[in-house]
Amino acid sequence: MLGVAADAELAAAIMSRTIIQSLITVEAWEGYTFADHQIRIKESHDLYGAVMWPSAIVLCYFLDTHRDTYNLLDKNVIELGAGTGLVSVVTSLLGAKVTSTDLPEVLSNLQYNVLRNTRGQCRHPPQVTELSWGKELEQHFPQATCHYDYVFAADVVYCHPYLGELLDTFDHLCQDGTEILWAMRFRLDRENQFVERFRSRFHLEELYDLPSLSIKLYRASRKEMGRKTPSGEAAGGWRDGWMDGWMDGWMDGWRGCLILPCSTEAV
Ligand SMILES: C[S@@+](CC[C@H](N)C(=O)[O-])C[C@H]1O[C@@H](n2cnc3c(N)ncnc32)[C@H](O)[C@@H]1O
Repeated sequence: MLGVAADAELAAAIMSRTIIQSLITVEAWEGYTFADHQIRIKESHDLYGAVMWPSAIVLCYFLDTHRDTYNLLDKNVIELGAGTGLVSVVTSLLGAKVTSTDLPEVLSNLQYNVLRNTRGQCRHPPQVTELSWGKELEQHFPQATCHYDYVFAADVVYCHPYLGELLDTFDHLCQDGTEILWAMRFRLDRENQFVERFRSRFHLEELYDLPSLSIKLYRASRKEMGRKTPSGEAAGGWRDGWMDGWMDGWMDGWRGCLILPCSTEAV
């Protein structure tokens, strides 16, 4: 873990990539400087997936400042829960072939931001497509043809009932050589336990630990590549018991504790 001063210094460097918007403007946006570009992200405040979260800025900062060790040129990258698209935009500007995914209701704003910030400026036009965690993975992302060098995810763990499906999705998308970069915002104990569940299937290494932001950035790769779990199933039944009563009393919606935006499906 970084010392207090080093944590504060790194957090300040990360957040300094945010551009302060002029008060007089016809359109609300958030600005960032990454990959030698000024990026403008439109938020739409009616959906959680349409708001920028600090984990995304942390992941972008890491990618931008580690271009040698993480050379994304021509790499196949998929982002889960891309939200407003900052990570997908930065990854595209750094030269990767990006598939940016989220729930259907988030895709139009995501597509808008991705197009607006990458059109004519990147080597491979990014693709924006639906990926609902755990659903029809083999149908839409067949393992025989979809090989990803990287799976990126920022702030996808919070109080929603799809953590099992999320874990299955990471699992499905990881093959030999695939690395996950995952920025996790720590909120409350129950959702934080996901890290240990994740660790049961993936080798996990901390790249950043930023207590001042309550965010860690992890690198991960799949353990036991031969023992893949069929998609769509709760591998190892790990939700049993753990999810019982999990949502009870969890309806306080604040930025630090999210409610799943639109889907009402039961676990
Ligand atoms: C807290 S937001 C983070 C967005 C973005 N990664 C960021 O850091 O700004 C969580 C994202 O996960 C997406 N999400 C939630 N449940 C999902 C599910 N079951 N399948 C796919 N995406 C989901 C949301 O739509 C949202 O975009």
